[in-house]
Amino acid sequence: QLADSLFIINNYAREYFADTLFNNEEGQNVGLSYFEERGFTAETIKKFQLGYCLNTFDAFAKSAIAKGYNLEYLQKTGLVTIRNDQPADNYRGRVIFPIHNQSGKILGFGARILVKSDRAPKYINSPENEIYVKSRVLYGTYFARHAIDKLNECLLVEGYTDVVSLHQAGVENVVASSGTSLTQDQLRLIKKYTNNLTILYDGDSAGVKAALRGLDMAIEEGLNVKLVLLPDKEDPDSYVQKLGAEAFRAFIQEHKQDFVLFKLQLTMQEAGNDSNKKSQLVNEIAETISKIDKAEDFTRQQDYIRQCSQLLHIDEQGLVALVNKYIR
Ligand code: GTP
Ligand code: MN
Ligand code: MN
Ligand code: MN
Ligand code: MN
Repeated sequence: QLADSLFIINNYAREYFADTLFNNEEGQNVGLSYFEERGFTAETIKKFQLGYCLNTFDAFAKSAIAKGYNLEYLQKTGLVTIRNDQPADNYRGRVIFPIHNQSGKILGFGARILVKSDRAPKYINSPENEIYVKSRVLYGTYFARHAIDKLNECLLVEGYTDVVSLHQAGVENVVASSGTSLTQDQLRLIKKYTNNLTILYDGDSAGVKAALRGLDMAIEEGLNVKLVLLPDKEDPDSYVQKLGAEAFRAFIQEHKQDFVLFKLQLTMQEAGNDSNKKSQLVNEIAETISKIDKAEDFTRQQDYIRQCSQLLHIDEQGLVALVNKYIR
C-alpha cells in the first residue's frame, strides 16, 4: 500500500531529524540553538517532534536508501530530490516541523531556513501526495483537539511557530492554516470539535483579507467567528513571547471582536460617503447575515440584524426584508 509506505518513510524521517537535532554536533549547535534562541524549551521541542536536517548533500537520503526505502517513494514525500542525477536532501540546513494528522501520523513537513535569504524560500513544505492534501489539513490538530473540545473554541493562527509558542504558553486550543486561506474542508474539520472559531492574525496581514473572504463560507458551515487583531509587526508567537502567557491570554479576551461586525465596520470605512458603495455593502452584509439561517441559529441572525442596522443607520425592518431576499 502506497499510503502506508509514505507514512512509514515520514515516520523514519521524523525520528532521523529529531535524533539529529539532539544528538548530532551540527544538530545541537545549529538546529537546537536556533530553537532555544526562539524560546522553545526541550519539552516543547520533543512534544512537537521538531528536528533538524543536516546541511549536507545527502546524509538523510543515504541513510533512508540504506534502510531499504524506495527512492521513488522518498521523492513522493518531498524529503529527497534528484540533483545532478543523485538523490539529495531537500531540507538540508533547515529546522523541521512534522505535520501530524488527527491520530498523530506524519503527513508531511514544514522546513524552515535558519537565516532569511532572497535566494531561498523561508519555508519549504511537503508536496501534496497520496497522504498529504493541504486543503484538508490544519497544523496542530493532533495536539489541539482535546483542548478545542474542552474549551469549545478553536483559535486559528497563520504559522507553525505560532502553534508551538502558544502551546508552550498553555494555550492549547490552537491550529494553523500555514499561511493559506481557509478551505471548506478545513472549516469542517474545525466544526467536528467546536462551532466557535477565533482568528488570531496580525493587524497588517494579508491574512485578514484572506480570512474575510472565507467569512461567508465559515458562516455557512455554522461557525461563530471572532477575530483578534494583533499589534502591527506581531504574530501570536512573537507577541506571546513578548507579553508572557498570562498577559497574552488577557489580551485575547479583551480584543476578541465579532467578525461579521468587524467586516461591516471595515467596509463602511472603505465606502466613506460613496452612496453606491454604501448600498453595495448593505447588500453584502445582508447576504452574509442570510447565511446564518442555514446554521439554524435564528437568535444570532436577529442579533446581527439589530446591530448592523444600528451601525449602518438604516431601518431594521428594511434590513430584515433584504436578508429575506437572500434566503432561498
Ligand atoms: P517564523 O518567521 O519562523 O516566525 O514563521 P511564521 O510562521 O511567523 O511565518 P509567516 O508569518 O511568514 O508565515 C506563516 C506561515 O505561512 C508559515 O508558518 C508557513 O506555513 C507559511 N509560509 C511562510 N513562508 C513560506 C514560504 O516561503 N513558503 C511556503 N510554502 N510557505 C510559507
Ligand atoms: Mn506574515
Ligand atoms: Mn505583519
Ligand atoms: Mn508569522
Ligand atoms: Mn513568526
